[in-house]
Amino acid sequence: MSDPDQHAEPFDAVDIIAAKRDRHRLTDAQIDWVIDAYTRGVVAEEQMAALAMAVYLNGLDRAETSRWTTAMVNSGTTLDFTDLGKPTADKHSTGGVGDKITLALTPLVASFGVAVPQLSGRGLGHTGGTLDKLESIPRWRAQISTDRMREILRDTGGVVCAAGEDLAPADRRLYALRDVTGTVESVPLIASSIMSKKIAEGTGALVLDVKVGSGAFMKDLESARLLATTMVEIGADAGLATSALLTDMSRPLGRTVGNALEVREAVEVLAGGGPEDVVELTVALAREMLDAAGLPDADPAAALTDGRALDSWRAMIHAQGGDPDADLPTAAHTHQVLADRDGWLTHTDALAFGVASWRLGAGRARKEDAVSAGAGIELHTVVGERVRAGQPLFILHADEEVRFDRALASLDGAWTVADEAPESRESVILGRIGGNSNTLRPADC
Ligand code: URA
Repeated sequence: MSDPDQHAEPFDAVDIIAAKRDRHRLTDAQIDWVIDAYTRGVVAEEQMAALAMAVYLNGLDRAETSRWTTAMVNSGTTLDFTDLGKPTADKHSTGGVGDKITLALTPLVASFGVAVPQLSGRGLGHTGGTLDKLESIPRWRAQISTDRMREILRDTGGVVCAAGEDLAPADRRLYALRDVTGTVESVPLIASSIMSKKIAEGTGALVLDVKVGSGAFMKDLESARLLATTMVEIGADAGLATSALLTDMSRPLGRTVGNALEVREAVEVLAGGGPEDVVELTVALAREMLDAAGLPDADPAAALTDGRALDSWRAMIHAQGGDPDADLPTAAHTHQVLADRDGWLTHTDALAFGVASWRLGAGRARKEDAVSAGAGIELHTVVGERVRAGQPLFILHADEEVRFDRALASLDGAWTVADEAPESRESVILGRIGGNSNTLRPADC
């Protein structure tokens, strides 16, 4: 054991790494110190990488996970909206393909007088980022000051903006480190990472959309349920009312994947139309948020059809400099994928569609890459619909024609037309965790 007095720090990183390596619990003081010392640069990257691997292999229990989260919250500034004079509620999705829910959900919930402070990210890899989608709206700005954010929350209600560098900075560094050390896929590390940012954001209630399936982080219901339960427990331990829906991400959500294409679809939902699964999930998440915000009798489905949600969207886009009436950008080229036989579309693989859309230019491979606003995929046909030979199934959009070949390669085998109609999916929602009831649909038990 090394002598901590030598460098005037209360602990030595090597001792903490060895403790977790040997499957011991970390004390609150050890966790507080290691996260703080890492943020200060006292714990080196290679030491934190070793600790992340020890956690990946040996886990953290509930108390350790909650303390780890709190330590990351305390590594930076926290926002406080308790003086707004209205309740606050937010939603976080673990990320999926065609997931444009935030776009419609934020103004929908705001239309009931609830403030929604959505600190969001840009996409990396096959899942799109909400900010990338909104940035396809001419003149809309993701970067706003905290004062302006507070003003919009008070006057308009919904804000979607980029998180400041000083919000949970320990997580920012640790997430980047985990990305290059094979330690992303650890439930306590994912849960603490997500929850530290949401707790620091200062929302009064939180609803989680934990995706399950090929296009999601969590490929099966068991691991999604574990992640959701861990996050709900962290919320409870931090005094933040948190619930989670487990939702299907085995196929793309809705009929569009891409930035401007998804904005267009979200506006359809806000105007009372849009695909059934997007509407179902938007309304279910809105109910959760409104309930947590103290409005259990609010009717979000009605606000989608009577114009209130659309008015709220227009105000929200205006407040961040955007023009809700401007034409959305379109890609220069399109390519149609046609059905080669009559039948029923029985399967579309979410991951493959996400990768194809990314290859068309809608996503980025490195943080500094630009994305194409118009690129992506329109699903002319979705699972369960009848098709005729020669009818368009999917329309690919890209700024450069050369992108089509690689996108088509990733769609190879990713969809099926068969003789029989598939069994219809009862609901996009597979289960719920949190609040007073943990329920799973009978088919999943
Ligand atoms: N998203 C996050 O913010 N953190 C993780 O660890 C994984 C996904």
